[in-house]
Amino acid sequence: MSRLVVVSNRIADPRKTAAGGLAVALAEVLNNAGGLWFGWSGKVIDDAEDDDVVFQRAGPVTLAMVDLSQADHDAFYLGYSNGVLWPVFHYRLDLADFDAGYISGYRRVNQLFARKLLPLLKPDDVIWVHDYHLIPLAAELRALGCKQRIGFFLHIPLPPPLMLAAIPGHDWLIRALFAYDLVGFQSKADLDHFAGYVESEAHAQPVDDGRWRAFGRTVQAGAFPIGIDVQEFTELAHAPEAVELYERMRLEYSRRKLLVGVDRLDYSKGLPQRMRAFREFLTKNPDLRSSATLIQIASPSRENVSAYTEILHELESLCGSINGNFGELDWMPVRYIHRTVARARLPGLYRASRVALVTPLRDGMNLVAKEFLAAQNVDDPGVLVLSRFAGAAEQLREALLVNPYDTEGTAAAILLALQMPVEERRARHEALMQTIRRYDVHWWCDSFLAALERTQSEEKGTSWLRL
Ligand code: ADP
Ligand code: F6P
Repeated sequence: MSRLVVVSNRIADPRKTAAGGLAVALAEVLNNAGGLWFGWSGKVIDDAEDDDVVFQRAGPVTLAMVDLSQADHDAFYLGYSNGVLWPVFHYRLDLADFDAGYISGYRRVNQLFARKLLPLLKPDDVIWVHDYHLIPLAAELRALGCKQRIGFFLHIPLPPPLMLAAIPGHDWLIRALFAYDLVGFQSKADLDHFAGYVESEAHAQPVDDGRWRAFGRTVQAGAFPIGIDVQEFTELAHAPEAVELYERMRLEYSRRKLLVGVDRLDYSKGLPQRMRAFREFLTKNPDLRSSATLIQIASPSRENVSAYTEILHELESLCGSINGNFGELDWMPVRYIHRTVARARLPGLYRASRVALVTPLRDGMNLVAKEFLAAQNVDDPGVLVLSRFAGAAEQLREALLVNPYDTEGTAAAILLALQMPVEERRARHEALMQTIRRYDVHWWCDSFLAALERTQSEEKGTSWLRL
């Protein structure tokens, strides 16, 4: 059997808590399949170029890590990945910083990754590259002579063609995708955007079943919505740490219904809009005021990028003003916690909550929505209020779908969720569980790798790349 080599910028010990869909899903995959996980060590040092790869054994997985220099970290991670690609791919052209210097740092780190990874590869390895930080990695590997099959999965959305075209050098970026054998997206909408872009901007010809030909190469592309390990997460809900938290929350909030939000503190997650919708709900429903509490957990993320500092201040100020205006001596409407919660405790928090507010302005998938469902008591389940702009909304049709920009509409959905009779909650939950069970993390991994295996191998010459 071929060895699986996973490559991503962020890597994490798969036995520990990490916030972020990519780290959580890849930990599940590698804990089962074993293999090599190559990526950034998380360390920024003076002279990373000459550093050796550091290896660490983590259960069945070998972590292979490289450091980044300060200049590379700033240009590659903060600059191009999170200052250009992240905002544009999340439809936020207004937040993009198109500093011309970033792209060379982005390319340099992809070349560094290729150079350090190549000697670790075995001839029959299957390589699976993840996310927007590493779009040109296959092209750089091919340029060094790599012949193995390489798949790419984009964890974040792909925007419509004209928005993508706002990125200086967008043609270079998309051409680099043609060095992969398979490119996977979270949703059909993302795949349609890819097709629209390559056909209109690169004059690609659609070939049979999800293949496109351009730049003298054919690439296979498909939608592979990511899932969670439903069984493991359901079991986690019955483990002592989750049960203990669940019982404490139920006792403390016995007279109240809980609403919960769990996110990285990111502007794509729609946190200020969520708070405004909750404030609108409190304003419109004075009789229900002291019977509902919103717990918002927001883990720190990318704090060196200015848009993240701004969203932090905006959120703090909104939570403060809601509590100041609506709070009572014995009740605060919002509990805001700026921290990562241990993974083992999350199901307890989800299970104690009547409503989950998963209301991103744009999101590749959103695993929190699926985790909330998996943690519920099937006899008395909570209600998922889900943004129609999350990738998960393509699958989770029985959730209460909202437009997070519509404050009144979201407030009305909160009321509906809090008052929904148990029969309707059960029916919706059962249908949603069927979907997340069928399309779980194992389905995601197996279907992607099987599709990669089926791709027809092609001459991997590199002259066409001209990156
Ligand atoms: P993203 O990848 O954009 O962060 P997802 O919802 O897909 O969004 O994935 C987030 C993952 O990180 C989930 O598994 C969730 O449980 C975890 N997570 C997010 N925020 C926190 C937090 N504050 N504490 C603990 N885990 C978190
Ligand atoms: O899932 C989206 C994602 O960007 C992942 O690529 C990443 O691991 C996660 O969010 C957290 O972001 P970061 O690695 O920048 O902390």
